[in-house]
Amino acid sequence: MAFMLWSNDLVTGIQSIDEQHQWLVNTTNQLHDEINNPQPDNRKIGSILESLIEYTFNHFIVEEDMFQRFEYPQSKSHIEEHNKFAATAALLLSKYESGESVNNEALDFLKEWLKHHIMKVDMAYVPFLKEKGIN
Ligand SMILES: [Fe+2]
Ligand SMILES: [Fe+2]
Repeated sequence: MAFMLWSNDLVTGIQSIDEQHQWLVNTTNQLHDEINNPQPDNRKIGSILESLIEYTFNHFIVEEDMFQRFEYPQSKSHIEEHNKFAATAALLLSKYESGESVNNEALDFLKEWLKHHIMKVDMAYVPFLKEKGIN
């Protein structure tokens, strides 16, 4: 079974956002599978981690651009959550780059953060953006 399952409660109904979230879930699963491989390939773990972080940052930009465009009222606290996550993710990457391994604890953090963020924080903008004609 996959480490992180895609389920209906993660679906926002905004197609571009859902595709990006799905990519994040799939890639988190890939990272999990490689870390738990009997013979983990560190180079592969590094490149998955890097692309995951890069993609996440781009995804944040997509959301934040929409907030700005439509003057989303909860934009400030939402962006703060993005920034906190970005700081933690950057720390994880720099630890990895200095030779520390990425363990399941880091993965659990990633999974829980993603789930919470999509289900609670992202979901909160859905009615607002849909009213602005985003779908
Ligand atoms: Fe978000
Ligand atoms: Fe999101």
